[in-house]
Amino acid sequence: MANYDVIIIGSGPGGYVAAIRCAQLGLKTACVEGRDTLGGTCLNVGCIPSKALLHASHMLHEAEHNFAAMGLKGKSPSVDWTKMLKYKSETIETNTKGIEFLFKKNKIDWIKGWASIPEAGRVKVGDDIHEAKNIIIASGSEPSSLPGVEVDEKVVVTSTGALELGKVPKKMVVIGAGVIGLELGSVYARLGSEVTVVEFLDAITPGMDGEVQKNFQRLLKKQGLSFVMGAAVQKTEATKTKAKVHYKLRKDDSEHVIDADVVLVATGRKPFTEGLGLDKLDMQMTKRGQIQVNDHWQTSVPGIYAIGDAIEGPMLAHKAEDEGMAAAEQIAGRHGHVNYGVIPGVIYTHPEVANVGMTEDALKEAGRAYKVGKFSFMGNGRAKANFAGDGFVKILADKDTDRILGAHIIGPAAGDLIHEICVAMEFGASAQDLAMTCHAHPTYSEAVREAALACGDGAIHM
Ligand code: FAD
Ligand code: NAI
Repeated sequence: MANYDVIIIGSGPGGYVAAIRCAQLGLKTACVEGRDTLGGTCLNVGCIPSKALLHASHMLHEAEHNFAAMGLKGKSPSVDWTKMLKYKSETIETNTKGIEFLFKKNKIDWIKGWASIPEAGRVKVGDDIHEAKNIIIASGSEPSSLPGVEVDEKVVVTSTGALELGKVPKKMVVIGAGVIGLELGSVYARLGSEVTVVEFLDAITPGMDGEVQKNFQRLLKKQGLSFVMGAAVQKTEATKTKAKVHYKLRKDDSEHVIDADVVLVATGRKPFTEGLGLDKLDMQMTKRGQIQVNDHWQTSVPGIYAIGDAIEGPMLAHKAEDEGMAAAEQIAGRHGHVNYGVIPGVIYTHPEVANVGMTEDALKEAGRAYKVGKFSFMGNGRAKANFAGDGFVKILADKDTDRILGAHIIGPAAGDLIHEICVAMEFGASAQDLAMTCHAHPTYSEAVREAALACGDGAIHM
C-alpha cells in the first residue's frame, strides 16, 4: 500500500496533464492506467492516429491533384496500406513513450491496471489498495451505441476499428456527419473508397456556423464524399465481409438500403465510468451519464475530482488538458481556471475548419447586436499560390464595443489561425486591435487581419 497526495485515474490528455501539473506543484502523484500504453483515447485511438492518416492521405491528394500544375511530374504515388498503418502506429508509439518519459522525469508513479474507488481516499487496483488525499477521475469516453447496429470492429466499426482496417474498403458508409465521420470519411475518400455519409440532421457538423456548414459540405462533395441528409439509420445487417445499412428519410418516411464493405458508426461518444464503483459512492451524475462537478471540478464526494470527457462540456483533448491543469492547481491551493467561452474546435479535414466563441445563430438567439467581418482566402496571395483559396475567415464582434465574440474559419491552416483570435478574446480585444496588428506578408494569417478590418472600414484585398 502506498500513500499519495493525488491519484489520477486515466492517463488521457486530462489525466496525464493533471499528473504532470500535480507533480510540478510538489504533490506526490500516481496515475492509474488500464491500457498497455499511456495517453488515453487521444494518443492511442483518437487525435494522434487520425491525424497521422489525415496527413498521409492529404499528401496523396496533393500529389494526385496539385503536383502536375506546379510542374512536378513523374510517377504518382500508390498506397501501401500496411506501411501507412505502420507509420500511424509508430506515430502513436513515439507519443505514448513521450508521456512515459514525462512521468519518469516528474517522478509520477504509473500504477498499471483498472482502478475502482471503494471509498474517498482509497483507490483499488487489482488486489492493491492505494491511499490518496485527493483522487481525480479522468476516465474519458467511449463510442455511443446505436440501436439496431452491432459493432464487430471489422465490417461495422467505430473510429477505433476504422483506424486499423485490414484494407482500404471499396465502399464505406459513414453514419453521422460529425467530426469523426468527416475526418475519417475524408481519409478513406482520398485513399480511393466510395464514401457515403448518412446524417440524421439536415446540416453537417451540428452546432457550427451555418455558412461554414454549407461551404464545408460543398467542398467535401467536390472531394468525392456523398451525403444522405435527414436520414435516420434503422439498422445494419452484416456478414463477415459486407454490410447493408437501412435508413428512413425523415421528410417522407421512405425506407432505403445502401451496401457497404465497411460501415463506420460515428454518432457521438459517451462518458466511460464503468468499474469505478461510482454507484456505491453515491456520486451525483448528470442525466447524460457524466460525472457532476462544481466550478472547481469537485464531485459530490469530498476529495474526488473529475475532468475531461467524463464530465460535461466539449469532448476535446485540449479542454481535458486545461481542466487537468486547473484541477491540479485547485488541489495545490491555487486558483485553477478554465475559460469555457474560449475553447477552440478544429476539424482536421482539408480545408481545415476551426471555430471559437459564439456563432451568429447563438448571438441572434441571445438578442445581441453584432457585426460581421468576412474575408475569402481567394483574396489571400499565399493561399492562391498554394491552391488553397477555398474558404473564408469570419469574425463576429459586438456592434457597439467592437469586442470579438467569435470566429469561424474554413480554409488552409484554420486550426492554427484560430489561436490568434483565441488570444485576442482572452485579452478582451476588439476587432480593431487585431486589424491594427501588423501581419507578415505573405501568410494565411493576413486573412484573419483582413476579416478584422472588414469589421470596421473594410478589408483591403476584397
Ligand atoms: P481519454 O483520452 O479517453 O483517456 C481516459 C483513459 O482512462 C483511457 O486511457 C482509459 O483506458 C483510462 N481509464 C478509464 N477508466 C479507467 C480505470 N477505471 N482504471 C484505469 N484506467 C482507466 N480531440 C481533440 O481535441 N482533437 C482531435 O483531433 C481529436 N480527435 C479525435 C479522434 C478520434 C477518432 C476520437 C475517438 C477522439 C478524438 N478527440 C479529439 C477527442 C479526444 O480524444 C478526447 O476528448 C480526449 O481523449 C479526452 O481526454 P480524457 O483524458 O478525458 O480521456
Ligand atoms: P459528433 O457528435 O461530432 O457527431 C455525431 C453525428 O451523428 C451528428 O451529426 C448527429 O446528428 C449524427 N447522428 C446521430 N445519430 C444518428 C443516426 N441514427 N443516424 C444518422 N446520423 C446520426 O460525434 P462524433 O463524430 O462521433 O465524435 C465524437 C466526439 O469526438 C466529438 O464530441 C468530438 O468532440 C470528438 N472528436 C473531436 C475531433 C477533433 O477535435 N478534431 C476529432 C474526432 C472526434
